[in-house]
Amino acid sequence: MKKIKNNIILIGFMGAGKTTIGKLLAKYLHRKFIDTDNLIEKFAGKSVSRIFNEDGEKKFRSLEKKMISKIVQKDNLVIAVGGGAVTKPKNLSKLKKNGTLVYLYAIAKEILKRIYNKHHRPLMEIAISKKEKLIRIKDLLAIRKTYYEKADYTLNTSNLNTYQVAKKIIKLLKLS
Ligand code: S3P
Repeated sequence: MKKIKNNIILIGFMGAGKTTIGKLLAKYLHRKFIDTDNLIEKFAGKSVSRIFNEDGEKKFRSLEKKMISKIVQKDNLVIAVGGGAVTKPKNLSKLKKNGTLVYLYAIAKEILKRIYNKHHRPLMEIAISKKEKLIRIKDLLAIRKTYYEKADYTLNTSNLNTYQVAKKIIKLLKLS
């Protein structure tokens, strides 16, 4: 697909490292970093968890759609989108048109390790035990796989640190 804009867009499941890697990548490339969850929080004046709890997921997805429409108009950014953003075909096609999509992949067990003790992800608060969380991650990953795999590149981050992943993206996109 011919790209209109030069944005680098990181997609993938919660805990894939989109925000951490995105910030590092932006620093290396001297670009601005934007995180859609962060934009949504600023716009709504409350955290993603509070939006989910007080207004519901539907409201969150509508804000997410709005922010995506806004950021794709910009160019030369490093963008991280929330894990569920590309499961909406309209978001996915807008992002694909306006940048290079990199899917940061990690196996379910690794994701669990990364997000287990973090409490700002409403979709993961549903399951209580560690075992239940792993099942939930596997189920969601299976549903989302086809969307994530629409990315231009897939990068397995399972055994890499953030520094290595950022370097790999630079190499992959021939930016060095
Ligand atoms: C979500 C992922 C979160 C955030 C929201 C919903 C999802 O972002 O957008 O909690 O549906 O996977 P991260 O992927 O940055 O954790």
